[in-house]
Amino acid sequence: MHHAESLYEINDDLTPELMGRVDEVIQRYANRAGALIPVLTECQKIVGYVPVELQEYVAKGLNIPGSTVYGVVTFYSFFSMVPKGRYIIKVCMGTACYVKGIGEVLNRICSEFNMDVGETTEDRRFSLEAVRCLGACGLAPVVVINEDTHGDVSADKIMNILDQYT
Ligand code: FES
Repeated sequence: MHHAESLYEINDDLTPELMGRVDEVIQRYANRAGALIPVLTECQKIVGYVPVELQEYVAKGLNIPGSTVYGVVTFYSFFSMVPKGRYIIKVCMGTACYVKGIGEVLNRICSEFNMDVGETTEDRRFSLEAVRCLGACGLAPVVVINEDTHGDVSADKIMNILDQYT
């Protein structure tokens, strides 16, 4: 089992500063029933994802088995064991968007940033997801970036749009 300070040597996303905040969260929830999911949620907010080293640390802090933590992290798609980008690009693969050419938009993003659906750019700027109808078919083709909905996109327009997310 690792101490907070030495985790940084194993995974340099787990800086002492961030682990200090993780400690606060664990202390706040320790001995409370149903603590695991809220603790993991806050840990993911702090670190950006929940790597195995962090799972072990939380398990120790809450006095529960590491396998329980691992089970929760892998069960809920909300938790990620790999780093995510600062901006999540959701490309709508619904019928209306498909008909209006979302495929070209998706191809442009993939080739421009050298990533596939489900991946994250190396600089952790973008993560790319393909999603079902976003309920904005009137705006097709649609791409959502974090909270922003962009309609009527094209392979050319999407690059200008993404330029705004630095
Ligand atoms: S199909 Fe894309 S928003 Fe409905």
